Amino acid sequence: MVFIGDIGNVSLSEKIAKSLGLPILYPDVKIFPDGEQRVYLKEELGGEDVVVLKSLSTPVDSNVIQFLFILNALRESGADKVTAIIPYLGYQRADHTFRVGEAASLRVVIDAILAEGITRIMLLDPHSIKITEMFDVPVMNETALPIFAEKIRELVADLTDVTVVTPDMGGIRRIKMISEILGVEFAAVEKDRDVETGDIKMSSIHGAKPKDIVCIVDDMISSGGTMVQAINAYRKMGVKKIYAFATHAVFSENASTILQDSPVEKVFVTDSIEVPENRLFKKLEVLSIADLVKTGLSV
Ligand code: R5P
Repeated sequence: MVFIGDIGNVSLSEKIAKSLGLPILYPDVKIFPDGEQRVYLKEELGGEDVVVLKSLSTPVDSNVIQFLFILNALRESGADKVTAIIPYLGYQRADHTFRVGEAASLRVVIDAILAEGITRIMLLDPHSIKITEMFDVPVMNETALPIFAEKIRELVADLTDVTVVTPDMGGIRRIKMISEILGVEFAAVEKDRDVETGDIKMSSIHGAKPKDIVCIVDDMISSGGTMVQAINAYRKMGVKKIYAFATHAVFSENASTILQDSPVEKVFVTDSIEVPENRLFKKLEVLSIADLVKTGLSV
């Protein structure tokens, strides 16, 4: 097996390579002054079983193109099998169209990936379960929830003090899963997002009353608006300690600042996306998915 790392997420690439006991090969990527990219795989990969890691995170379009070029180079090299590990799949929130006349963005990205002839794919906490059905190759669907559950057990002496919360109704399946893993009650925040502006507004909370400790769990933090609104709502309800968990640290706009300034105790994310230094903040802790990837590959 040959492992191709992600030049946009070197720390995760190194951890996965170590956990697989393989050297990392990185694609040689040249970006020309006009923004075009040239991808070159120096190694002889004919007949190889290749595992390639690539998060389609910011800058999303550039990473999508780079990934397609890597897959194409693998095909041209005559690689035998290609397993694509995509910890963060860009455009996943556009898994359906919201209005007539809107492009099916995720469908376009997935079709382009599939056109390069991958053998199988690994995803991590995709935004919706239907995303896994959009691929016509086997999908390994991994989740960071057991990692978060372990962290919650570490943080809290008595789990009867805990309620887990999804800050978005779309996360109901995930919150049920982690509530079952931990044996605690769950609640869900209902929010509305303006289709035009993308602005969000909390409307109501369903499910269990909050205990002294609330752990809010989401698939991703982008602008931070959803998470911070939920944190503030639970603080107003008198909750003593609030922890935030999100698989994907998209951290757009001023997410880091508003999270740091919020009444949250700590924010836990995974290394599915490498958080740039200028977006790191004191309350943030990054948990690695490297072992999860290894286990997923060996099943
Ligand atoms: C929503 O559909 C997702 O599960 C997240 O709640 C959302 O994408 C977070 O976005 P933001 O941080 O911009 O509020």
